[in-house]
Amino acid sequence: MRIKIAPSILSARFDRLGEQVKEAAEAGADLLHIDVMDGHFVPNLTMGPTIVSSIRPLTKIPFDAHLMVTHPQQFVAPFADAGVDDLTVHVESDHDVRKTIRMIRDAGVKPGLVLNPATPFDRAIPFLPDVDLLLVMTVQPGFAGQAFRSDVVPKIREARAYLDKERLKTELQVDGGIKIDTAPIVAEAGADILVSGSGIFPDHVAANLKKLREVAEKAARLRT
Ligand code: DX5
Ligand code: ZN
Repeated sequence: MRIKIAPSILSARFDRLGEQVKEAAEAGADLLHIDVMDGHFVPNLTMGPTIVSSIRPLTKIPFDAHLMVTHPQQFVAPFADAGVDDLTVHVESDHDVRKTIRMIRDAGVKPGLVLNPATPFDRAIPFLPDVDLLLVMTVQPGFAGQAFRSDVVPKIREARAYLDKERLKTELQVDGGIKIDTAPIVAEAGADILVSGSGIFPDHVAANLKKLREVAEKAARLRT
């Protein structure tokens, strides 16, 4: 049972971001998670396409950009040009979701859809055949280092059961408060990709990543 790990650079040391990106890649990260916040959809500002294009030459691992913005469509082309491999957009943002998914696909990038903790799984159903990723948030987006919301676990199970029943290839990603103690919970519930910020960065990146993968894969083997 293979679980993918996506370190979130939001918890990296920005004074040496390049080194931290290389550390994560060399440690075997499957994806690099890039949290984009606009100070409007969420109460925080983070990084834009310029940062992505600056770190893009440092590694070949796929870049997974998570757009926490009110108007995602205006950022599709800039992030595609900066070299991201997938772009996940919130169903709660102010947009025509189907159109945004198509724009992302047309830009040569894999589209993904994100659900906030309070948003029911049903909201994602109409779009699942058209997205490569479904991201279920296990914290309210905006900041790294928040506590994992165990009330979201039933939604992860519901999503896993639906994707399996419909034989969809959409990968199930979880993000927020994923550490050694919570990684087994989400892996057992059916997650394929675990995002982790403060569970991996800034120190002991390789050891943290290895341990996270170990406990997650062990728990995933217990899935029924
Ligand atoms: C939260 C972001 C997460 C965050 C995860 O708004 O979407 O990706 O960086 O950080 P941790 O793992 O520390 O909760
Ligand atoms: Zn994120």
